Amino acid sequence: MTELIEVLTKDGSYSLRSLIFQENFHSLLGALEETKLKFTAPSNLKRFKGKSLNVLDICFGLGYNSASLLNELIKQKSYLNLFGLEIDKKPLEYSLKNESFLKLWDPKVKTIFKSLYRKNYFEDQFFKCSVLWGDARDKINIIPSSIKFDLIYLDGFSPQKCPQVWTIEFLSKVTEKLNSQGYLITYSSSAAVRKTLRNLGLEIFTIKPSLNNRTFWSQGTVAISKFEKNKLKPNFNLKKLSLMEEEHLLTKASIPYRDQGLNSSKDDIIKKRFDEQLFSDLLSTNKWREKWGMTKLSVKS
Ligand SMILES: C[S@@+](CC[C@H](N)C(=O)[O-])C[C@H]1O[C@@H](n2cnc3c(N)ncnc32)[C@H](O)[C@@H]1O
Repeated sequence: MTELIEVLTKDGSYSLRSLIFQENFHSLLGALEETKLKFTAPSNLKRFKGKSLNVLDICFGLGYNSASLLNELIKQKSYLNLFGLEIDKKPLEYSLKNESFLKLWDPKVKTIFKSLYRKNYFEDQFFKCSVLWGDARDKINIIPSSIKFDLIYLDGFSPQKCPQVWTIEFLSKVTEKLNSQGYLITYSSSAAVRKTLRNLGLEIFTIKPSLNNRTFWSQGTVAISKFEKNKLKPNFNLKKLSLMEEEHLLTKASIPYRDQGLNSSKDDIIKKRFDEQLFSDLLSTNKWREKWGMTKLSVKS
């Protein structure tokens, strides 16, 4: 998995494109901006000031989401137990060589990333971090079941390009690891992913589009396991799904990706879903798009 091409995004931050997955790691509008808007801001990190938290970063890649998290937690003196899951070491190798990536963060992030690359592990008084290299579908099983996460970042390539990390079976393993007030955060607004998370018993919210970019109707999804309104700290980056988004979940686009043995190929997962869509009585997704004047969904490309 080494066929990666450097990409300069519009906010001046660097990213990669995978020739194997035929997709960019980040939106061309900005890798840094995407991380901040879709992962760091919805995490509402202030609530962990001076406290400890557990975070799982699925599809670690270049490490933007973890770097931005570490950067904020260094400033506010939080204690962190971080696990990363990633199949390919090359993106992290690239990050460690890219001075403009490293300059975005507190110098401690470089120390941590170097240690993750060399030893898969870093530990000091505040942070305990490790990356489990390999297929996330296997490696997630190594995480002790006693560890429940306050935040889970899910940043795989889009479901059409990498369905392996968006199936009912994988998402069910992921959501088992969420603590009772934990947030599962993803850039994806896919109906299949949202419906799966809802069917797994999570409350789902949309990440509000930013004020300076209204092109997209959503910046992604946050799923919360036990939504107790009075206990939950206000999070101004989230809102309930709009009528348009709710109707999206009634269309054929909401048919889930399935991977019973958690070892299916991309093509098998896509074909199985396509067959299920052919025989489904759900509303046509094109009709939904026409009704709401939709041309394009928010995808990583
Ligand atoms: C969209 S990129 C991740 C972007 C990332 N968060 C960053 O900051 O660069 C998707 C990542 O998923 C990884 N990946 C693809 N399939 C995987 C799998 N089955 N298990 C774990 N990682 C996988 C790819 O190697 C790639 O680094």
